[in-house]
Amino acid sequence: MEIRQRILIVDDNKDNLYALERMLSGTGAQVIRASTGNEALIASLNNEFAVAILDVQMPGMDGYELAELLRGTQKTRNLPIIFLSAIYSDDYHVFKGYDAGGVDFIIKPYNPRILINKVRIFLELDRQKEESAEANRQLQREVADREKAEAGLKHAMAELARSNAELDSFAYSVSHDLRAPLRGMNGFSQALLEDYSEILDEQGKDYLCRICSESERMSQLIDDLLNLSRVSRAEIRREPVDLSGIVRTIAAEMERREPDRAVEFLVEEGAEVNGDARLLRLVLENLLGNAWKFTQKRSRAKIEFGRKATNGECAFFVRDNGAGFDMVYAGKLFGAFQRLHSASEFEGTGIGLATVQRIIHRHGGRVWAEGAVGQGASFYFAL
Ligand SMILES: Nc1ncnc2c1ncn2[C@@H]1O[C@H](COP(=O)(O)OP(=O)(O)OP(=O)(O)O)[C@@H](O)[C@H]1O
Ligand SMILES: [Mg+2]
Repeated sequence: MEIRQRILIVDDNKDNLYALERMLSGTGAQVIRASTGNEALIASLNNEFAVAILDVQMPGMDGYELAELLRGTQKTRNLPIIFLSAIYSDDYHVFKGYDAGGVDFIIKPYNPRILINKVRIFLELDRQKEESAEANRQLQREVADREKAEAGLKHAMAELARSNAELDSFAYSVSHDLRAPLRGMNGFSQALLEDYSEILDEQGKDYLCRICSESERMSQLIDDLLNLSRVSRAEIRREPVDLSGIVRTIAAEMERREPDRAVEFLVEEGAEVNGDARLLRLVLENLLGNAWKFTQKRSRAKIEFGRKATNGECAFFVRDNGAGFDMVYAGKLFGAFQRLHSASEFEGTGIGLATVQRIIHRHGGRVWAEGAVGQGASFYFAL
């Protein structure tokens, strides 16, 4: 909104006031008249002025005294003052005017165009001052808005962390409580099989076997869920971790467990990172376990571990030449119980990558995957 600027003119002579007002009407500013110092002070209390023009010789309070008073008041401290004087044109009075806070001293008779141009300059300065003050206020409003938004975000994040923690402890106790009845089902099915096998026909025995294997599967799912919620609750303890060393240990362990598999391991040495050693080991166990599992149909399986620089950050990767996956579903991989391969083809419950993602996120890092059907997969993480 454009606020009209105001000019204060003070003169005890009505004709002078009238002439000044007419002269200044072309500036577009509103002219406020005062015929005494007191009137001027009252006007200055109720209005903002861009510039004031004071007659020096006035009965009672003269222009200098008025200027002193205006300068001593907070609101008009920086008001530019132009003195007009017919009588005092000597240096002494001119400088007295400057001392009183005047910015200019014009001696009558004067050329109206000179006065008008000087007033215009002060109006322009005032406008610029007002604009930068407004820009400043706008900036302050924006800063305040941003601070408010940040506080809101912080609050929402704390809220989310709290409800996540609640959900995790809920999952933990539910999974925990599910185990007992499941054990019961499994146990009684076994008992039926053992103690009543003469009474049951083959189909009956088959049903019981299925109940047993399904309950074992469910027990595995519960274990996985419990592990996942443990990962979320565990405290992160950071220390330098030798990832290359961990990869070598896990590879040796897998080779020992399945000596029939011939898998070539390529491990880059010296890959170190700051993080929680126990949790990062779990990440590598899952990624290498997957690589091992999804290369089982390759006659020349190859698993690589190394570092790669990607847009300014250093990412670690586990790469294999196994079954691969369709990139269309790359976003699904990290969800709990999400599997792209059937259990008959490759066994598993689909919790490994969900665990990996949680651990990496808890370190403040990110994890992603690349792959193609039949052409292997690469899993990256950066901390
Ligand atoms: N190296 C890989 N190559 C091809 N597909 C993969 C690879 N790693 C994971 N996947 C795909 O992502 C899915 C989810 O992996 P995730 O590790 O979470 O589960 P899983 O290995 O099937 O079971 P779990 O890890 O719980 O035993 C897998 O079922 C598979 O479809
Ligand atoms: Mg897995």
